[in-house]
Order: sequence, then C-alpha cells, then structure tokens
Amino acid sequence: MSNQPRRYHITTFGCQMNKADSERMAGILDTMGFAWTEEPEEADLILYNTCTIRDNAEQKVYSYLGRQAKRKQTNPDLTIVVAGCVAQQEGEQLLRRVPEVDLIMGPQHANRLEDLLEQVFNGSQVVATEPVHIMEDITKPRRDSQITAWVNVIYGCNERCTYCVVPGVRGVEQSRYPEEIRREMEELGRQGYKEVTLLGQNIDAYGRDLPGSLPDGRHKYNFTDLLREVHDVAGIERLRFATSHPRYFTERLIRTCAELPKVCKHFHIPFQSGDNEVLKAMSRGYTHERYRQIIDTIRRYMPDASISADAIVGFPGETEEQFQNTLKLVEDIGFDQLNTAAYSPRPGTPAALWDNQLDEETKSDRLQRLNHLVSVKAAERSQRYFGRTEYVLVEDVNPKNPSQVMGRTDGNRLTFFAGDFAELRGKIVPVKITEVRAFSLTGEALLPALC
Ligand code: SAH
Ligand code: SF4
Ligand code: F3S
Repeated sequence: MSNQPRRYHITTFGCQMNKADSERMAGILDTMGFAWTEEPEEADLILYNTCTIRDNAEQKVYSYLGRQAKRKQTNPDLTIVVAGCVAQQEGEQLLRRVPEVDLIMGPQHANRLEDLLEQVFNGSQVVATEPVHIMEDITKPRRDSQITAWVNVIYGCNERCTYCVVPGVRGVEQSRYPEEIRREMEELGRQGYKEVTLLGQNIDAYGRDLPGSLPDGRHKYNFTDLLREVHDVAGIERLRFATSHPRYFTERLIRTCAELPKVCKHFHIPFQSGDNEVLKAMSRGYTHERYRQIIDTIRRYMPDASISADAIVGFPGETEEQFQNTLKLVEDIGFDQLNTAAYSPRPGTPAALWDNQLDEETKSDRLQRLNHLVSVKAAERSQRYFGRTEYVLVEDVNPKNPSQVMGRTDGNRLTFFAGDFAELRGKIVPVKITEVRAFSLTGEALLPALC
C-alpha cells in the first residue's frame, strides 16, 4: 500500500439540497483521511450525488456511471458510490443495471456515509434506502465557499404534487430543532461566513412536525419564529431562504421579512402554472389569484423586492389557452428570474400515468415561448437598478475577467465590478450600477466597504 491518501471526487447534480448534502459528505470523507481531487478520472472513490426530478437528469447519471464502471474493470480498488435521489428511487435495481457500484445510499443517509463505507471496505455491496430519522448534523461540511453557506432547516416534503418525485425520494418532513440551526449558524459566524441560505423543499412549512408550541401557547413554532430566532447571529450579515410554497407563505412571514434588516428582499416562490385547472390537476392547493395576492402583499411591504419562481409547461392536458394563462401571469408579475421546465413524466407519480400527455414538440415550443418572455421581463426588471447604488457581498473573482470581483445584490442579482479580491473578499461593498443585463449587472465600487 502506498502512503498517499486515497483520493475522492464528488459530482453533484440537482438542487441546493443535494449541494448541501455533498458538502457534508465531503466533510465526512475528509475526516476519514481521504483527499479531494478535482479530477474524477484520478479518484479512488467517486461519489455521484444524483437528481431524478426530470428524465434527462436521471439519464445523465447513467452515462457518467457507465464510464466509471468501465474504469473499475481495470482498477478494481475504485470505490463507486451513488447517493441522492436516483439512488433512493432505483435502489437495488441500480445494482442490477450497474453491478460495479459499491454503495447506493438515499438522501436521508448522507450523514451515515462513514458507517456505510466501512461496510463496503469490509467487503459488502451496500444499499441504504430505508426511511430513517435524519441524524443531527455532527459532521463538519467541506463548504464550497468561505463566504456564503447553506444551512438545512427542514428535510423532505409532505405535499403530493402529481408530477413530482421529491416526496418519494426525500421522505416526510423533518424539521431540525431551532437551537441546532442557531448553533450551526453561530459556528459559521465565528468562522467568518457572511451569508446563510436556509434550505428546505417547502421552507415555509417549517415546524409543523416539531413537538409542542411556543411558551405563549398560541401557535406552534413556525418559520417566522425561526427567522426571528436566528436573525441576530453575530457575523452573519445576510439571510436568504428557499424554497417557499405559496400555500404556507403568510402575511405574518412577509411582515417579518420586511422588519428584519438582515433578511434579503428576494423571494423564491414557485407557481408552476398560471391556470387554475392545471394547478388543481397538479394538486398545488392554491389558485393564480392567491398567488398574485401573495406577490401584491410582498410588494406592499417591500416595493423593491425581487421575485423568482419555477414553472412547468406542457403538463398533461394543458391546452394552448391554459398555457396562455401562464404567459399572462409572467407578463403581469414581472419576475426577476424564472426557472422553467417542460413537464417530464416521472416513475411513481400519478400524472405520469394519465393518458392526456402532450407531445414533445408542443412542450418544447411552449418552453421556448415562455423562456423568451422571461428574458424580456427580466431585462425590464434589471432596468430599475441602472444608476442606483446596490450593496454587493463579494464572493469571488469574475472567472471571465480577473480584474473584476463578483457578488450578489440584496435582490440576488449577480454583479461584477473592478476590484482586488484579496482586499474585498467577504465585504459588502456599495456599488453604483453602470450596466444592466437581463440576469446580471456591472458597476463601480463606491468605497469604503461596509463591513
Ligand atoms: N418544493 C418546490 C420545488 C422542488 S422541485 C416547490 O414545490 O415549489 C424543483 C422544481 O422542479 C419544481 O418547482 C418544478 O418546477 C420542477 N419539476 C418538478 N417535477 C417536475 C417534472 N416532473 N417535470 C418538470 N419539472 C418538474
Ligand atoms: Fe415536489 Fe410539490 Fe413537494 Fe415541491 S411541494 S417538492 S413540487 S411535491
Ligand atoms: Fe433533484 Fe432530489 Fe433535488 S430529485 S431537485 S436532487 S430533491
């Protein structure tokens, strides 16, 4: 055996939840004595943290896996791990398809990586997909950034949207205790982090599963209470959260966000469709009128708030007229950003079995038309920044221009400006905006930086 540490590489697909899980799994591998390598082809342990939200996300995993399986034939010491949502969905079937895989582990098992790997190193092929209570985070994540960090708040999802695999692969809601969340954030503050994004599939549903209620006995501890609880953590200057579900987005939460200065005035609230019948078929639990009312209330309290969302086109049975209602909602609201997708039938979801599926051509035509409108509206929304002073938290060097740094405004617009990263790293800098594009801005620093 050589004295070189074994090297590992993690490739992450999917959402922020997976990115946060990957950082924790990397932390575990570090403490086990593995060394990170940028090169998947050089790794002795390769971990794919997978996503199955749409078919193309799943297929990507199989093509990556195929390459590693081949490499294992000449390098039997290679350890192949499949984690995340495809692992959960496919379980043992994945072993039948790619027998070279050593460990298959669902997202709820991320913190157990060390235990599971020990079983692998003792000679077993391991499948860990049974539902478990997620262990509190005793791991030290290996975070990608030293400035912004993710903090899990609630795992899983209790909704049953008819198109979606998430409840099946992430399990039922499990809220972390507020003290644990605060403790993690205090540690981040001590380490010099400046921004925290609180994470959950439906973060505004936080607390429903926690025992007991507040000392005043009036209501159960909820996400608004959590925001108040963590707002004064020393060192953390900015708080963000995602994703919000319209069903739980209350006026009380909106008022709290407006009141608390560290909460960034950016809200990610997916609407999925602008048509009430489609929303009903999706089992979303709200109407487009209710969605519009939420945005109106946000804008009443915070006129400049930026709003982003997710939308699906080509849901089974969606007519041209119903699609037009989605366009109309996008036209009326004027999103700062919108993640769009063509509906993809997923195994184990009700809508996949319906016989009113649309053809691919209709779906991709609608997607293109929606995307066009989104960029027109985003460019319009960007105009309001022109000539203004925005506060930018400096996160990195602009990879396309090393004389510039980059960061985000309070409203989450990516912003570039000339400056020295070594000096400005982690600082919140006032920047006068001189150029606007649909999804990013350029400006000039008005020094000195704030903190
Ligand atoms: N919990 C969040 C979204 C999580 S999934 C919410 O309820 O809003 C992220 C996004 O993927 C969804 O908002 C949806 O727009 C998209 N998505 C989920 N399932 C999909 C499917 N079968 N086809 C296409 N897009 C899908
Ligand atoms: Fe999926 Fe709906 Fe849960 Fe969001 S709320 S994760 S779309 S089931
Ligand atoms: Fe994908 Fe799983 Fe996230 S399916 S979008 S990685 S919850």
